[in-house]
This record gives sequence, structure tokens and C-alpha cells, in this order.
Amino acid sequence: MNLIERPRRLRRTETIRALVRETRLSPDDFVYPLFVCEGEGVRREIASMPGAFNLSIDELVKEVEGARRVGVRSVILFGVPGEKDAAGSQAYAEDGITQRAIRAVKRELKDVLVIADNCLCEYTDHGHCGVIEDGEVLNDPTLDLLARTAVSQAQAGADIIAPSNMMDGFVIAIRDALDESGFEHIPIMSYAVKYASGFYGPFREAAGSTPQFGDRRGYQMDPANSREAMREAELDYEQGADMLMVKPALPYLDIIRAVRERFDLPIAAYQVSGEYAMIKAAGRLGWIDEERVALETLTSIKRAGSDIILTYFARELAQRLT
Ligand code: PBG
Repeated sequence: MNLIERPRRLRRTETIRALVRETRLSPDDFVYPLFVCEGEGVRREIASMPGAFNLSIDELVKEVEGARRVGVRSVILFGVPGEKDAAGSQAYAEDGITQRAIRAVKRELKDVLVIADNCLCEYTDHGHCGVIEDGEVLNDPTLDLLARTAVSQAQAGADIIAPSNMMDGFVIAIRDALDESGFEHIPIMSYAVKYASGFYGPFREAAGSTPQFGDRRGYQMDPANSREAMREAELDYEQGADMLMVKPALPYLDIIRAVRERFDLPIAAYQVSGEYAMIKAAGRLGWIDEERVALETLTSIKRAGSDIILTYFARELAQRLT
């Protein structure tokens, strides 16, 4: 038969498939999210996130070393403080859990890139990402605290600040504060497009950051909206964000693609806790091949246009990729 086009010719062997492969994952794409808590020798597995832990600082350093050995050179840290209060004061305390963790990792592993998540929800007793008055999350007073947090994170040695709080104007507020304190060289990776998502459930268990009343729909985005995502990304771009993030990842591949096409900044996507938990759970039940599905989702996220992927699979899968 005189078939001219036979795409199967390029699929016959793994060698030829590797030759024509369009999207390749590398440990350099990954940022490894880690939860750091008080104490010593603590390595407490998060029930809904098998393979992810609350780690005391000593254990955190070991975990980062282990990841570094298999090629993961970037981490993002989330603090789980011993005490929480209404103003989230441990977020910007000089000796806060995150600040101490950043110092410890940078002291032991100088070439590891430490990204500091910038939000109040892990530090407030009410679990919201900002200051509350009459049941409302106030925008501008929150910006001051986020800016303070960013400066204290930079002072502790953070290489990148990643604000995830979704207050209006957070990028410019943090940029100004960093610049005024001599940190004009520190980039901002903005969680520019962050949806109010059910996929954050396991994270909130890990960080103890479930809102005590209401939910986050008053500041995080409606999952139904994509034009609004472009507005959010545009605002952060104009305010000086160095990288733009979309979060969650897999349910929002269309948004990743749209942000990629519109902006020339590096684009990051966060494969969040619920995405990880689903793959782990189905894998444990024997319903899917966990590693294969994990790699397929990460490949899809990269194919959609993300340069950087934040994923709890980073350490586990890095070994497979090298
Ligand atoms: C803090 C923050 C959250 C996540 C990252 N930064 C939680 C939230 O907004 O409730 C979620 C990450 C994940 O689910 O893995 N605001």
C-alpha cells in the first residue's frame, strides 16, 4: 500500500523514540517542597502524603542533602511553627522556624537554591493568609506583614522569595521592601495564578493551615476563570515578578499554556499536595502504576509550557531521570 505518511516509523524502538522526543524532564526542572517543624530528630510522615514529612531542621538538612545527591538543587520551604497567633508573627520573626531552617540549609549546602514561600496562613491561628478584621481578610495591612516576612527571609539567606498569599499588590509591596533593605538582587517567584482549590487539602493537614472559618475564595481565584488568570499574571509582571507560577498544575494545563504564550518570563507550575496524594493513593491500591503516572503528569505539565515544576515527587523521581 502506498501510504506516504507512516508516523509509526519514528516509534519503533526506544532509541528512535528518545531521538525524536519533544519534552524531556530533568532534575533541574524540579523544586522540592519541604515542611519544616520544631524539634530534633523529627521525621513525621504526613498521613495523606505518603513519602512526605514534617521535618525538624536537622532532618531537613539530611533530606535536602539526599535530594541534592540525586540532582535536585532547588527546594521551597514551608514553616510549621510551634506557636500561631492572629498576626502570624512567627512568619517574620528573626528566629522563626523558616528563618532558622533557611540559615541551616544555606550553611550546610551552599549550592542548593532555597526558595522561601511567603504567606501567613501557616502562622496564623485562624489559618487565613492575612490579617482579619470583622471576619474579613484585610489586604493592605497584610501587605506590610508579607513585606516584613520577605525581608526576614532574605536576611536569613533565602535565594528567591515566592509569595503565595494572593493579596492584591503583593509583588510590588515585597519588591519595594526587598530593594529598600539591599536585596534588589533577590528574585520574586510569584504565585501569580493561584486557584481556590480542593487540591490543597493534604497540604493544610501538613501545615495545620486549614482556615478556622470560611474559606479562601475571597482571595484565591475561581477555578472557572481563565481571562482573570491573564489579568493576575499581567499585574504581577508589571509589578516586577521575575517568574510566574500557576497552581495547581494538572487541572490547569490550559492556564499554564496561556501564561506561557503571553509572557516571556520563566513559568513555574505547582503539582500540589492533592495531585500527589491521588497518585500515591491509587498507586498504593494497585490501581495505577504510580511512577509511570507521576512521570506522565510531570511531562504533561512541562509540555504545557512550564519551565519549572514544584513537586513532592522531586527526590523520588530525580534518580529515575539521571
Ligand atoms: C500557602 C500555600 C498553600 C500551598 C502552597 N502555599 C496552601 C493554601 O493556599 O491553602 C498549597 C500547596 C499544596 O497543596 O501542595 N498559602
